Amino acid sequence: MKITVVGAGNVGTTCATEMAEKEIAEEIILVDIKEGITKGKALDIWQASAIQSFDTRVEGVSNDYEATKDSDVVVITAGLPRKPGMSRDDLIHTNALIVKEVTENIVKYSPDAILIVVSNPLDVMTYAAFLASKKSSSRVFGMAGILDTARYKSFLASELNISPKSIHAILMGGHGDSMVPLPRYTTVAGIPVNELISSEKLNSIIERTKKGGTELVNLMGTSAWYAPGAAAAQMAEAIVKNSRRVFPVCAALNGEYGLKDLHLGVPVVLGKNGIEKIIELKLNGEEMKMVRESAKQVKELMKILDDMNIFPEKFGDKNPVLH
Ligand code: NAI
Ligand code: 2OP
Repeated sequence: MKITVVGAGNVGTTCATEMAEKEIAEEIILVDIKEGITKGKALDIWQASAIQSFDTRVEGVSNDYEATKDSDVVVITAGLPRKPGMSRDDLIHTNALIVKEVTENIVKYSPDAILIVVSNPLDVMTYAAFLASKKSSSRVFGMAGILDTARYKSFLASELNISPKSIHAILMGGHGDSMVPLPRYTTVAGIPVNELISSEKLNSIIERTKKGGTELVNLMGTSAWYAPGAAAAQMAEAIVKNSRRVFPVCAALNGEYGLKDLHLGVPVVLGKNGIEKIIELKLNGEEMKMVRESAKQVKELMKILDDMNIFPEKFGDKNPVLH
């Protein structure tokens, strides 16, 4: 197995380190526009192999996509992180051009790769990579739900003073304030969470989860990387091991949940073909209303990308295939 990580910044290098330590591939290539630092970071990770006891080779390259040839999985983290004061529109304009260019380069050398998008704004960048790749949407999807669910679980674990490993939860919607944590689908080793926590406390944890990314941007002056890197690595692992784990993933919807033509966080089965199946939960009226509201907000951001008109073929004969 060969995995490429594009963007050797905070999230990309954390993801590469995690995947190397877990030995989920024989080879990991880190690509960035920056030269020395990318080679240096890859060499540094590789030099940890003797200490951490792994034999996954890690190599860093600058803009050399030939080195990524025949990758099985590619994690795209290239782009700017959101800084305090930066508007979402600014980020879409800058990162969409980066994600488009990176995806086209990747697909040229690895036409069969499965792409995991991490760059923000996540739902829109997943849409951009999907359009640029011209691949089936089951092979191009985004990481956000695993991270957002992990934050939700970590807050619950601290509040209940139990291991996060005993908490099972699912969360849907866009990667932003409109995300939809689902208490009805949250259990502690099978015990419905509302038997263990007051609704006031649970609501405050849900609100904190929705703003989890902003909380860290405010603390660190840039966005998070340990949990995001680990989350992307967990998706890559499910694909290369064909483990068919169920995760919330940003996927193209084609009628599921009554929604079409957008990328949104939904539960899926991840395996060797990428998204093997989208799971449709039996949401109640209130849950569905929140998911629809989130979809509306994501569509508004997708319109900003459409208005950039960098994918003119989208409206021609060469529409990428949904599913
Ligand atoms: P970073 O600034 O540390 O790293 C980004 C890297 O991308 C830099 O090394 C930069 O040189 C590289 N890059 C820029 N243009 C490139 C190009 N054309 N080709 C190759 N590499 C290029 O940023 P960080 O913290 O690693 O975040 C990366 C992205 O992931 C950001 O957009 C951030 O907002 C997003 N993110 C998404 C999360 C999610 O849940 N989906 C969570 C955390 C971050
Ligand atoms: C995060 O949720 C900002 O997407 C980034 O940490």
